[in-house]
Amino acid sequence: MDLGLDGRRVLVTGASGGLGAAIAAAFVAEGARVLAAGRDPGHPVPDGVAAQVRLDLTAPDAARTLVDTAVRELGGLDTVVAAAGGAVRGRFDDLDDGVWDAGLELNLRSTVRLMRAALPLLRGSTAGRVVLLSALSASEPRAGHVVSNVGKAGVTALAKTLSREWAPDGILVNAVAPGRVRSRQLDRAFPDDEARAAFASQHIPLGRFGAAEEVAPIALLLGSPRNTYVTGQTVGVDGGMAASV
Ligand SMILES: NC(=O)c1ccc[n+]([C@@H]2O[C@H](COP(=O)([O-])OP(=O)(O)OC[C@H]3O[C@@H](n4cnc5c(N)ncnc54)[C@H](OP(=O)(O)O)[C@@H]3O)[C@@H](O)[C@H]2O)c1
Repeated sequence: MDLGLDGRRVLVTGASGGLGAAIAAAFVAEGARVLAAGRDPGHPVPDGVAAQVRLDLTAPDAARTLVDTAVRELGGLDTVVAAAGGAVRGRFDDLDDGVWDAGLELNLRSTVRLMRAALPLLRGSTAGRVVLLSALSASEPRAGHVVSNVGKAGVTALAKTLSREWAPDGILVNAVAPGRVRSRQLDRAFPDDEARAAFASQHIPLGRFGAAEEVAPIALLLGSPRNTYVTGQTVGVDGGMAASV
């Protein structure tokens, strides 16, 4: 199926990490012109991207810088994939405002600012599409990760709200909710094969962690002009892990 991505102008944040990098690479493979945003210069973004930028998305002016770069390098934006983020460990009793502020800045507010900055460009596209990286823990919160649970629930609610408010502009907004997918942060939490296998056999019906390349096709479809009638959805990519109907 041709997703109509040839020449499409795509911004991917978190493109120097597991899921974002796989998504950016998949867009490149389909002929899209990708602006890849990472933070750490030591973490590469995929080959073949049209442009790349390194910045800390929790900085108040980062979203503006990204969008200005997209205008300069791509001439606009058709698709935005917000994949930067990460789990924040800690039980509620142990956390102070500093942890909450930093965790919500990264997992929610940076995405809010990016959406605000990108909206004029998405309105200028003939088929604006947005894909936000949420998490299974938004709908099935994990004990010991309260900050990222709350932040990702906010991301899911943001996607739904924007899908309604931006529908008249033809902008479709969806979220993807991974369960346990191998990436830098997941490999920190589950460093060895035995720990992953033990967890997967108990909690994941398909019996294994996912690969970032298994998330990418979903983001590609949702972020493509071929998607014309799916908006406001959160699509789980979790090997069957979600327990809710
Ligand atoms: N992997 C999973 O199973 C899973 C499950 C649920 C949700 N998710 C979500 O999926 C997304 C991707 O996660 P991942 O597992 O691929 O993680 P990852 O491998 O750790 O990659 C995280 C990415 O986010 C970037 N990033 C982190 N903090 C940043 C900041 N302050 N400013 C700019 N960029 C920043 C990193 O940039 P640098 O590396 O350059 O610092 C990296 O590109 C996240 O939103 C995560 O919450 C993943």
